[in-house]
Amino acid sequence: MSRFAGSRLWPPRGMATRIYLIIFVGLMLAQGLSFAVMFYERYESATEVMLDTVEHEVGTSVAMLDRLPAPERANWLGLLQRDNYRFLLGHGQPGVPLASERSRELTHRIEKEVGPGYHVQGDTISMHPERYQVHVTLHDGSPLTLEVTPHGVAPIAQWLPVVLVLQLSLLLVCTWLAVRLAARPLAQLAQAAEAMTPTADGPRMSEKGPTEVAQAAIAFNTMQERIARHVKERLHILASISHDLQTPITRMRLRAELLEEGEDRQKLLRDLHEMEHLVREGVAYARSAHGGAETPVRMDVKAFLESLVFDYQDIGKPVTLAETFGGVAMIRQQALRRVLGNLIDNAIKYGVTAEVSAWRNAQGAMCIAVRDVGPGIPEAQLDQVLQPFYRLEGSRSRETGGAGLGLAIAVQLTRAIGGSLRLSNRQDEGLEAIVTLP
Ligand SMILES: Nc1ncnc2c1ncn2[C@@H]1O[C@H](COP(=O)(O)OP(=O)(O)OP(=O)(O)O)[C@@H](O)[C@H]1O
Ligand SMILES: [Mg+2]
Repeated sequence: MSRFAGSRLWPPRGMATRIYLIIFVGLMLAQGLSFAVMFYERYESATEVMLDTVEHEVGTSVAMLDRLPAPERANWLGLLQRDNYRFLLGHGQPGVPLASERSRELTHRIEKEVGPGYHVQGDTISMHPERYQVHVTLHDGSPLTLEVTPHGVAPIAQWLPVVLVLQLSLLLVCTWLAVRLAARPLAQLAQAAEAMTPTADGPRMSEKGPTEVAQAAIAFNTMQERIARHVKERLHILASISHDLQTPITRMRLRAELLEEGEDRQKLLRDLHEMEHLVREGVAYARSAHGGAETPVRMDVKAFLESLVFDYQDIGKPVTLAETFGGVAMIRQQALRRVLGNLIDNAIKYGVTAEVSAWRNAQGAMCIAVRDVGPGIPEAQLDQVLQPFYRLEGSRSRETGGAGLGLAIAVQLTRAIGGSLRLSNRQDEGLEAIVTLP
């Protein structure tokens, strides 16, 4: 499980989401703004053209009607009518002073176009929908009314909004692709760093891709190799020293056994025994880093655990097998035996009895638990006891002996075979150690 996964929605935690939002919102605003500006400009010029045309046409019509004999005027009205205005003979309807800027503007323009002497005057008849009348007095004194019902000009083609939506969708897709391209290597790097174990040779990052990504991947792989080499070197030194110490210790033991019976001899032998244990564990610890090298074999899980537990029962140790599942699994037998052995040894040594059980968890991984009924480990030290040579205060003064390497070996070995080890205190009493193997 990644420690970085977050569920908060706002503000978004993911860098990709943030960059995506910033770029997309910015581009969308810019695009929307230029569309609005274009719309406004087109609207203004279309209105201007419209006003211009109306002004000239109305001027011509008024001049013509003025010259026609009064009885003939009615015949011409139909011809002079347009879809946003028509002429009426007579005073028209009563209204209020012109209410809109546009109507005042048009009336003013008509007044200028027809010239002086026509007593041009406008009235708004209704606002929704807008309708206004411009009254003109012809030279023979008869009234003429121009009734205007303005309808909006559509300054842009109907397909333009569709183009806008298409553009925005294109932006959406392109930004998403770009951000993904930029953010994915980071996520991969984080994953690789998390999967990295200092000793087991972790998966190498792919060194392909854009220059910067490839550089980061190469740097990461180099770092991983350097750390692995460093750790390997140290473990090799530990293994060599431990191994080479075995021969002089064996020699000393043989010599001590030749000594006369007595308390000194007993003490010497006990110390040598402890040293032997330390050295053996040291070698085991150094080797445990390479536990993954063992080839896994198909094994019956129940049979494997039973044989492990029987070995303890044979020598009279209080170890029991509780629930387990049937079926086979790929097991690195030696490594797992060593891990469980160390846990069981601890359970017996510090927690009186050991109870082994196995099950499959929700993800299908095999889990094996070793539980005891001892005092457990203080919560604050649950992590520390996994470190090499760390022993609890009580254990140091004990007669039990021990190098403090058992858990460190168990952790390193489980990691080397791709699993994980977790210690926790049980609710009522005792410690529970769970090995999870995918
Ligand atoms: N089941 C347990 N209950 C209580 N304390 C424990 C338990 N298992 C381990 N500990 C504590 O954790 C310490 C570290 O354990 P670890 O197995 O690493 O070393 P060790 O048992 O002291 O020595 P070694 O296993 O190398 O002989 C122990 O000294 C003990 O104090
Ligand atoms: Mg131990």
